[in-house]
Amino acid sequence: MRGQLTPGAGAAQDNRAELDDAYGCSFRIGATHSCPPIHAPPPSRMSESIESVLAEDRSFPPSPSFSEAARVKSREQYQRMWEESIHEPDVFWGRAASEIPWLKPFDEVLDWSDAPFARWFGGGQLNASHVCLDQHLETERADKVALIFEGEPTPDGKPEIRKYTYRELHREVCRFANVLKARGIGKGTRVAIYMPMIPEAAMAMLACARIGAIHSVVFGGFSASSLEDRILDGGCEAVITADGGWRRGTVLPLKPAVDEAIVKCAAQGNCPVKTVLCVKRCGNDVAWEPRRDVWLHEALESVEEECEPEPMESEDVLFLLYTSGSTGKPKGIVHTTGGYMVGAYLSTRFVFDLRDDDIYWCTADVGWITGHTYIVYGPLANGATMVMYEGAPNAPHEGRFWEICDRHKVSVFYTAPTAIRAFMKWGDSHVEKADLSSLRLLGTVGEPINPAAWIWYRDKVGGGRCPIVDTWWQTETGGIMISPLPGVSATKPGSATQPFFGVDAAIVDERGKELPDGRGGLLAIRKPWPSMLRGIWGDEERFRATYWSKWAASGKPHYYFPGDGARKDVEGNFWIMGRVDDVLNVSGHRLSTMEIESALVSHASVVEAAVVPRPDDLTGEAIVAFVIPSGSVADAQATVEELREHVGVEIGKLARPAEIRITTRLPKTRSGKIMRRLLRAIASGDDVVQDTTTLEDPTILDELRAGGKA
Ligand code: PRX
Repeated sequence: MRGQLTPGAGAAQDNRAELDDAYGCSFRIGATHSCPPIHAPPPSRMSESIESVLAEDRSFPPSPSFSEAARVKSREQYQRMWEESIHEPDVFWGRAASEIPWLKPFDEVLDWSDAPFARWFGGGQLNASHVCLDQHLETERADKVALIFEGEPTPDGKPEIRKYTYRELHREVCRFANVLKARGIGKGTRVAIYMPMIPEAAMAMLACARIGAIHSVVFGGFSASSLEDRILDGGCEAVITADGGWRRGTVLPLKPAVDEAIVKCAAQGNCPVKTVLCVKRCGNDVAWEPRRDVWLHEALESVEEECEPEPMESEDVLFLLYTSGSTGKPKGIVHTTGGYMVGAYLSTRFVFDLRDDDIYWCTADVGWITGHTYIVYGPLANGATMVMYEGAPNAPHEGRFWEICDRHKVSVFYTAPTAIRAFMKWGDSHVEKADLSSLRLLGTVGEPINPAAWIWYRDKVGGGRCPIVDTWWQTETGGIMISPLPGVSATKPGSATQPFFGVDAAIVDERGKELPDGRGGLLAIRKPWPSMLRGIWGDEERFRATYWSKWAASGKPHYYFPGDGARKDVEGNFWIMGRVDDVLNVSGHRLSTMEIESALVSHASVVEAAVVPRPDDLTGEAIVAFVIPSGSVADAQATVEELREHVGVEIGKLARPAEIRITTRLPKTRSGKIMRRLLRAIASGDDVVQDTTTLEDPTILDELRAGGKA
């Protein structure tokens, strides 16, 4: 920690100059969007759209051979399919849905008459575990490997590897389901799953699905109190856990956190948990409550190997998954069975262009929606072979991921920008040591990817030959919404490109009016889609208020509001600019924090940057940047000035941070997202009063605060 550095007393004067720049257009802005017109709208109207300043015009079309072999091969084919999905959804989705097995056929595709509560594939019955497993047993996929698991520890340099064919996975899931049934768990029972990344986590989800129980996976890195909240909110009668999981060479205890969560629930007078089912993974000591706690391996000894899948109505709930908003307690996002499975199946098939000989690895944790849709339900519904890894990317060394890709000949690799930036920081040598020639497609998800990381990913990991699918979606959307199709799209660093089938995405203003191409605004989804959320568990009002009320007063009550800012270029590519609450307003210009971060990270001496606003009398908000340097900083003041100038050159004077703080770490959630609301409080000199339970390392707040006073 090197302390706070500000540009000094000249800043206010500078800002005044920037105010002139704001309409004088002396700063450089992107190629596909222009300066405010000569008759610039007054500030109040200007502020309705988000100014986009990211200049990025590199474009990477797929190779002819990739397109030739892909499921969707041309722009025309994509356009035809997309038009049909929007204008004749019954035809498009009826056909897509018939590609997965139903236990009873559906009568209609969509009923939107009770909007915003959609009913997809009404009258149909299916079972998600039947779609993922049973359907393959009568085919040549029965003995194909479904799951390759690699544990973190490497005693004698050798990792633990387990493989399950579809037949074996089916048997394990049936047995697991019978254990749950024997404990009185059945259709509609809520079950919390608090597990490390081991095959039993996926089996637990599928076993719940098989008997119609509703799973609520809680990320294994969350604390006992986060688990307590989710158990209580969902009314979970069972918790599936493990003694512990491996993380960076040590045991991360899980069962003790479950015990603590249950004590906390009980202290509130109403603990719903009757069963704790525990997988023995690490052999760490755990406390035991014999009437409640069950070892999975012991319970499995006395169960049958067959378990009929429970027929579920299409709109029966498949799972709850909690996600946090910028305020309030986490929301239990509700996903149902039919629409979710159709969406997961189809998006996996087209976006990852999966083939029977692909080895597919999504590095997410099952605790997140990516782990649900693109580790478990989507790949298995497609009969894919997928890789699952238990531990950290830098255990026992920083080349572990590339070693795994090499060892298992991974062909499709899907990860997050935050991971890519860490790999960049760790250096090219780790990537270069591995043979990554099996890779043919790369993906990213979770946050906007800065072009420097995108290019590094393409060159160093993808060897310059693999298309990158930058996939925009959310816990709430259930599946990918905006993404390149790898055989079609000319990809652009930082753009999620085109809407997926059935997605009617638009950039609109505060009144829901579509903005011209190039103008940043609010992203809206104007039609329902199959894998959309069906509600917030137990809170219909919040569901309506959060997602469906943004444009209701403007006569558009059925536009979905994802809470992200974005722009669309003249070619129809979407550029996501981050959460709307991650947008700052300088001199009447709303700027995306992500674009300023991108400019900072494009400087050779910056590894990671987070940008937040703080109130400013003159300009409304001033820009504060927290920056992690790539090496030691000899002259901090000079570095700060250099970075300010760099942002000035990259974007414009308007976007130059008023203050740059050099730091060694940033506050992140356990999933790697920067917690900007905490930085906002620190930048403004306020006390951090918000919820910090999802913060990976709470000590960082003191460090950042202390730095601010240095
Ligand atoms: O702001 C967008 C960002 O992540 C949000 C959704 O977060 P979550 O529900 O945790 O789901 C993450 C995994 C799907 C979005 O509202 N986001 C996600 N993917 C991208 C993205 N931002 C830009 N580009 C993306 N590809």
